[in-house]
Amino acid sequence: MKHIHLNTSFLSLEKADLSSEERNLLDRALAACDKAYAPYSGFQVGVAILLDNGQIIEGANQENAAYPMCICAEPVALSRAKVQFPEAKILWMAIRVKNEAKPALEPAAPCGSCRQIISEYEGRQKARIGLLLQGQEGLVYKFDEIAPLLPLSFSRKFL
Ligand code: THU
Repeated sequence: MKHIHLNTSFLSLEKADLSSEERNLLDRALAACDKAYAPYSGFQVGVAILLDNGQIIEGANQENAAYPMCICAEPVALSRAKVQFPEAKILWMAIRVKNEAKPALEPAAPCGSCRQIISEYEGRQKARIGLLLQGQEGLVYKFDEIAPLLPLSFSRKFL
């Protein structure tokens, strides 16, 4: 028998510790929250993706009266980026959240499905996607890739 330990680590930073490019991407993600259609949860998620061609692509969650049909902000932004610029690589994704019920003062990590989707896009482009997470204000969590958020991920290698 073998005990296998999976360690996860990431950086927790003040916004002032980030580069101006990173701060700009986080600002764009917060602005994208206003494009969310979230009348049911009141929880707005905004994403801004930086591509290696310099373009920034936004996404926001799109809810539905049939609740399971709600689409998260991450796949909205990733699909838009890949369809608009199929050859470009995704360098960074900033994800911000706003909550009508109470101020979101800490980052909200992407849900399990979104982690799997981000992992697939990393596999497609054969390069890591960095993540910057922040609430409406407060600390920023920085990940260089999806792996720390999705250890032992399922991928095409099993098929
Ligand atoms: N949501 C996202 O957009 N991304 C996530 O990773 C988690 C949840 C959205 C879905 C729904 O519209 C609202 O947040 C509340 O779950």
